Amino acid sequence: MSEITCTLGSFADVPKDLLTQIDRLEELFVVTPEKLKEITDHFVKELERGLSKEGGTIPMNPTWCMALPDGHETGTFLALDMGGTNLRVCEITLTEAAGEFDIIQSKYRLPEELKSGTADELWGYVADCLQQFIEYHHENEDLDHLPLGFTFSYPATQDYIDHGVLQRWTKGFDIDGVEGKDVVPPFEAALRERNLPIKLAALVNDTTGTMIASAYTDPTVKIGCIFGTGCNAAYMEDCGSIPKLAHMNLDPSLPLAINCEWGAFDNEHQVLPRTPYDIIVDKESPRPGQQSFEKMVAGLYLGELFRLVLLDLHQNPDCQIFEGQNISKLQKPYSLDSSFPAAIEEDPFENLSETHDLVQNKLGIAATKPELELMRRLAELIGTRAARLTACGVAAICKKKGWETCHVGADGSVFNKYPHFKVRGAQALKEILDWPADKGKGKNDPIEILPAEDGSGVGAALIAALTMKRVQQGQYAGIRDPEAMLKLCPPVKKA
Ligand code: BGC
Repeated sequence: MSEITCTLGSFADVPKDLLTQIDRLEELFVVTPEKLKEITDHFVKELERGLSKEGGTIPMNPTWCMALPDGHETGTFLALDMGGTNLRVCEITLTEAAGEFDIIQSKYRLPEELKSGTADELWGYVADCLQQFIEYHHENEDLDHLPLGFTFSYPATQDYIDHGVLQRWTKGFDIDGVEGKDVVPPFEAALRERNLPIKLAALVNDTTGTMIASAYTDPTVKIGCIFGTGCNAAYMEDCGSIPKLAHMNLDPSLPLAINCEWGAFDNEHQVLPRTPYDIIVDKESPRPGQQSFEKMVAGLYLGELFRLVLLDLHQNPDCQIFEGQNISKLQKPYSLDSSFPAAIEEDPFENLSETHDLVQNKLGIAATKPELELMRRLAELIGTRAARLTACGVAAICKKKGWETCHVGADGSVFNKYPHFKVRGAQALKEILDWPADKGKGKNDPIEILPAEDGSGVGAALIAALTMKRVQQGQYAGIRDPEAMLKLCPPVKKA
């Protein structure tokens, strides 16, 4: 277990019963280099199974995004980002200068009630936000057909680039009547009802957007990842390696972005080291049995895992942490998000005074020093496990493709804000791929995961631009209505 460094060095003050619990947690949460390799090898097989005719557990969705940008794309596009937390509308102008763009944007809160409301409410709200944006930024202008890249960050089956049958909601969404249906017609109907001058050009996953946006400025990017509320990756495959599309007789050398939807990895529980806490998270979620990998690594679940462990230790007669304290706040599901263990890991003080105050303010619990030390170690264990497991996915894509070097564009709250996530991931890549001793530090590594450009904004705009360019060149794979798409090129602005 030498790869996990404990920042506290020793647990001298920690009573024996708590030490036993820390040992137990380490056994549950530490993923050894051998296990990482085993998971990666299984992951490679599952990526391949997802592309096969029979299909597999990981959806490996073809996205009909069929080119990487060359930096010279131009035009003005709308981008709509419906992630997990906010809704964002952007207007992006890809300028003449290579790799550059102008952007204006507005953010709207995605009300919690909407996530379990009705489909009509959802699409009505989304269209209202677009309407507000247009009215605010284009008051009294007579616009015609602004092309839109819609980043819809859920698993969707796409027969065309402007089509997407929602396979299942993830990230805690639970809206009736959307799963199994194409999300585009009700979305377009809501636009029409409001007479909005917008035409959907591309439905985009955030991972594909991230890959494309990063490739706009860095041609060595081959993978896009989101480590955020949810977790997933996209990469460029060649059509010849996608047996499930063989019937379409596409040129085998054509590139096609695959949205892996790797959150579903190991739903059959063959290889991931699940703990009793992972099992509870899954059982209590709106979609038990789905997104097994995601539930161990994504931001939505890290705070909840942390909470479940603490609650269990409180109830455990052998150690009983927080004895005599009011734990009603700790009993509330999802009362802690991933920023909670992240902040604990960031506490710079030896006596963990910031952690003490945080736990007091958030949970109303006055924790003892040994309890604080246990929480610090637990935060490290949960955060480290997430970083190491996600590295298996990145390594698996690279192994499958035979890529020994590349850049990976990454975005999401966990990647950007969870302490040490990047360097822990790099260390895991080194262990999996047997890099030399001086590698795996997160800088100048053969495979390097770097902060991405704005995938859901610029990425979505670029995918719309690339799609229109493809139609202009007469390449119609994944294009439902070439004529309608042609009308969008170039975007027309009446006086
Ligand atoms: C969704 C993916 C998305 C990921 C990151 C997952 O829950 O299924 O489509 O890319 O979250 O946002």
